[in-house]
Amino acid sequence: MPTKLRLGVNVDHVATVRNARGGLHPDPVRAALLAAEAGADGITAHLREDRRHISDHDIERLRTQLHVPLNLEMAATEEMLAIALKHKPHAVCLVPEKREERTTEGGLDVAGQHNQLAPYVQKLVGAGIRVSMFIEAEARQLDASKHIGAPVVELHTGRYCETTGTEREKQLQRINAAAEYAAKIGLECHAGHGLGYDTVGPIAAIPTVAELNIGHFLVGEAIFIGFAESIKRMRSLMDAARA
Ligand code: PXP
Repeated sequence: MPTKLRLGVNVDHVATVRNARGGLHPDPVRAALLAAEAGADGITAHLREDRRHISDHDIERLRTQLHVPLNLEMAATEEMLAIALKHKPHAVCLVPEKREERTTEGGLDVAGQHNQLAPYVQKLVGAGIRVSMFIEAEARQLDASKHIGAPVVELHTGRYCETTGTEREKQLQRINAAAEYAAKIGLECHAGHGLGYDTVGPIAAIPTVAELNIGHFLVGEAIFIGFAESIKRMRSLMDAARA
């Protein structure tokens, strides 16, 4: 049973700000190195089909310069598979991707797309890459992830973060139940999307969750208190909740 809760810091939106002006600043690789120094256990970056934030060159530089594990988020496409097999990051998180969406809306339908996804999982796992499936907190998606051969699932916390009151409570219960079920069927469980200071505690408190991936809030908060400080605060909220 994992006890130490890892924090993966997603640097996509450092690249979003950089790309707004098309230059080199702020550099997501510099932010990743700073994040690792501030206590991130790993760095997460999503190479999207449209390259709206992280670029191919960012991935190359992250791969060579980072001393903590790199978790590459990507869609299950031939193009992305080739990039992953070339760079061999520590981990790949398979996510659904639609060009028109603002961010990753909803989890991957592993149960419904088993046959399309299976060859990607097989090739990535075969290359020694730890594969996780970004899914909704539903038993059938967990079962399908186990069946497809992924050792890890990441539960989508978006709906939990966006809602309030009894609906948020309901979403939290779903995530709790799914995290417990993941451990029961032998999957490592991660969680992420939309987490901030006011939402991280109840998720960090779930004993079977091994890793949280957090980005947008930390980059936004960096405007006010600095990137390192925003990560340190998140880390201490996570540790307090887990204790
Ligand atoms: N986990 C996954 C699989 C994601 O796609 C994202 C967003 O790229 C995150 C975590 C981080 O979400 P946020 O930026 O809202 O913290």
